[in-house]
Amino acid sequence: MTTPLNYAQENQEKHLKQLKTFLQIPSVSTQPEHDADVAAAAQWLADSMQEAGLDNVQVIKTDGHPLIYADWLHAGADVPTVLIYGHYDVQPAEPFELWQTPPFEPTVRDNYVYARGSSDDKGQAFIHVKAVQAHLAANGRLPVNVKFIMEGEEESGGANLHAFIPENKELLQADVALVSDTAMISKDQPSIVYGLRGMCYLYMDITGPTRDLHSGSFGGGIDNPLNVLGHIIAKLKDENGRVLIPGFYDDVRDLSAAERAMLAEYNFDEAGWLAETGAPQAWGEPDYTLVERLGARPTLDVHGIIGGYTGPGGKTVLPSTVHCKLSMRLVPDQDPQKIAKAFKAYIQQIAPPTVTVEITGGHGAPATITDFDIPAMKAAATAYAETFGTEPVFMREGGSIPVVGQFQEHLGLETVLMGFGLPDDKIHAPNERFYLPNFFKGIETSIRFLDELGSSKK
Ligand code: BES
Ligand code: ZN
Repeated sequence: MTTPLNYAQENQEKHLKQLKTFLQIPSVSTQPEHDADVAAAAQWLADSMQEAGLDNVQVIKTDGHPLIYADWLHAGADVPTVLIYGHYDVQPAEPFELWQTPPFEPTVRDNYVYARGSSDDKGQAFIHVKAVQAHLAANGRLPVNVKFIMEGEEESGGANLHAFIPENKELLQADVALVSDTAMISKDQPSIVYGLRGMCYLYMDITGPTRDLHSGSFGGGIDNPLNVLGHIIAKLKDENGRVLIPGFYDDVRDLSAAERAMLAEYNFDEAGWLAETGAPQAWGEPDYTLVERLGARPTLDVHGIIGGYTGPGGKTVLPSTVHCKLSMRLVPDQDPQKIAKAFKAYIQQIAPPTVTVEITGGHGAPATITDFDIPAMKAAATAYAETFGTEPVFMREGGSIPVVGQFQEHLGLETVLMGFGLPDDKIHAPNERFYLPNFFKGIETSIRFLDELGSSKK
């Protein structure tokens, strides 16, 4: 008799082939020229869920990219229902020339599959579809009730899922949520993320003259929006990384001594982490450890500047206007809207009267902390330990997964963040990759998690 684990092992080659097909679809949610590709990825994933044996598979239209819902609800009322989330959209792949093999031609090298979205998040999202398929194929049933909600605009703010959740509470009602969209500490040290940073993303447009001006005729007499932007950016943070916006730290919940002790305990390979970034040295607020700074302290970063002449050779102009993209990573209990307001007020105060500044945006999400003293966390820990031979550690993560806060707020659900990525997967960067043993072990962990959860008390 085949067991779900046997099924998964026997079908590894097929599962990898399917993942590669999924990865070939350039579902870049922020770039309108890829809208049809995002739709194609949604349909592909929905078809794979149908094939897995799930019921009620639906591709749900929204004002943006579609959501996918599917379920299997025949395990009975006395076992939990788990809501599984993943995102099938990916970050832009530019700059293409830095990829060793093209981002949408998945290639296996040294036990990694290289492609945009391989780790974040297609590979990880697909894990649970295959785990469910393994149970259904081997046993004709699942040990728990399962609902899937898959999103196609996580990387571009997730506005439509955010709107969908409060309007579909009944549809999404469950006992716990499961998300694989984070990383383990290393190949043999699994981790469960219990804290995620929030985010407040803003666009700042600075305009001076109504047209570009000759810098000889006008320089020294008219202020230059690019220079102004430089001054503004310099006033956002000090050299040590402390954000200078008044009120920015007002609501930051201090780390308790116990949590600092817990974070200090796990073996974070700082040297290896630094070497992998290629930067000459680490940096940040001196009063906090690197682990604390990465997961439990708020930050502000500029992500892009568009302005002035960037073509070949020189051009002597004062640009009329410049655009800047930036975000703040937030921690509990900072409120993204309050932070956006504080940012705007500060800019009004520091911007000179020689320009006008317009601030728009930004998609926001509060930081989240998950209660990890719940049965589903224990089930996850057991499943990891059985698969990887090591108990997972609990850690905070600096990235953001907005849906986790929305599940808490609207559905009262805690989320188990069962990640299978690795810190050097290069997510959001060229040569993103996913470690294949983690893809296969991820499927096994998910199979075991569903079993464990099924035998836990509801
Ligand atoms: N999978 C990431 C979150 C993440 C990043 C987890 C790093 C673990 C390590 C997620 O897809 C992501 O990138 N989220 C965005 C959210 C934003 C656009 C609102 C992020 O963190 O930048
Ligand atoms: Zn992701």
